Amino acid sequence: MKKVMILGAGIYQVPLIKQAKAMGLYTIVVSIKGNYPGFSLADKVYYEDTTDYETVLGIAKAEKIDGIVTTGTDVAVITIGKVCDALGLTGLSFEAAQIASNKLLMKTKYEEFGVRTARFRKVPFDLDVIKEETAVLHFPLIFKAVDTSGSRGIIRVNSYDEFASAMAYTQKATKLDYFIIEEFLEGDEFGAQAFVLGGKVQFILPHGDYVFKGDTGVPIGHFAPYDMSQDVVDDAKEQLEKAVCAMGLDNCAINADFMLVGGKTYVLELGGRCGATCLAELTSIFYGFNYYEKLLLAALGEDVSFESRMAVPNASKLLMSDKDGVIASQKNNNTPHENIVEVQFDYQVGDRVSKFKVGPHRIGHVISKGETLQEAVAILDGAIQNIEITID
Ligand SMILES: Nc1ncnc2c1ncn2[C@@H]1O[C@H](COP(=O)(O)OP(=O)(O)O)[C@@H](O)[C@H]1O
Ligand SMILES: [Mg+2]
Repeated sequence: MKKVMILGAGIYQVPLIKQAKAMGLYTIVVSIKGNYPGFSLADKVYYEDTTDYETVLGIAKAEKIDGIVTTGTDVAVITIGKVCDALGLTGLSFEAAQIASNKLLMKTKYEEFGVRTARFRKVPFDLDVIKEETAVLHFPLIFKAVDTSGSRGIIRVNSYDEFASAMAYTQKATKLDYFIIEEFLEGDEFGAQAFVLGGKVQFILPHGDYVFKGDTGVPIGHFAPYDMSQDVVDDAKEQLEKAVCAMGLDNCAINADFMLVGGKTYVLELGGRCGATCLAELTSIFYGFNYYEKLLLAALGEDVSFESRMAVPNASKLLMSDKDGVIASQKNNNTPHENIVEVQFDYQVGDRVSKFKVGPHRIGHVISKGETLQEAVAILDGAIQNIEITID
């Protein structure tokens, strides 16, 4: 029986763990302790920090694992690189994982390889130096911690007056003594899922993002196909392939963040893993295969093909609460329908939930499909209307 190690036990890893079990794999789950739904599904659990790559490597060696994989999270990617290099497993290299985990390294590679990306400067936490360094950049700017994910330590800056408070905000989020300042791109944000196998991009699936405007933009759903003209699609693909090459990503899923400005795709960042927020499901439905199965087969070094002749429009949105409280009731009043693909509640009656501000505050999701994107979106919105959740 082959052994797979899955990093993370949260909502986004649950379908991956279930799929591993369905494939008859011995499934080892690694995560810090907590109320995570993946623990009870695993064959074996190690309560360790998924970013502690030396400890996880020790476990991986002792367990003689055949593959290691995660989905929906950036933080564990570094450990996948470490373990794959040390044990000769299929996955991204430690070097590529380090680049993917640090926005300065990533942006530096993009510049070097001519990937279209916002202009930036590396700066210390020193106001005088920052003013000098950014004199060549055009406002608005965006201050970014380079070692975080999920929009932490990232803030838009419109004028010099905001420098001090923005710098303090960024400094609170980072462990490093520097950060980057980029030009703020005004455009339409979108994303793409892709997979690289042996250095070759197997598919690129651009998708639209529904974004919740909180302190920063938070993705709360996605849809595909994303309506773009063929030359914009070609341009996005070219930038993604260049970015993959620049980062040295050779064997992994890709979660790309793009900004479309004047018909040109700018690369915000690439993650060396599949996206969260129903993006594995979006990929599965669109192509008519089980993407989780493909992620696992690839991690085990087995033959895997991403070929598909399908292009099924689909859409998803998170369920969220507009206040802090306890779930008093939750009911899905939808009659089962083949185009309502999934209605998921993350919690049970009596569980405490938070007013939605960031992704982890989600309380469930709904996924739909249709003959056209318009139909998929109408079904999605209709299905959400038929869900009654009361929070006290
Ligand atoms: N140069 C930029 N111009 C405009 N918006 C940006 C820029 N960089 C980042 N953003 C916004 O901030 C969000 C988070 O930035 P990103 O670099 O993707 O970091 P994270 O790892 O936190 O997702 C992006 O999804 C986008 O909405
Ligand atoms: Mg991002």
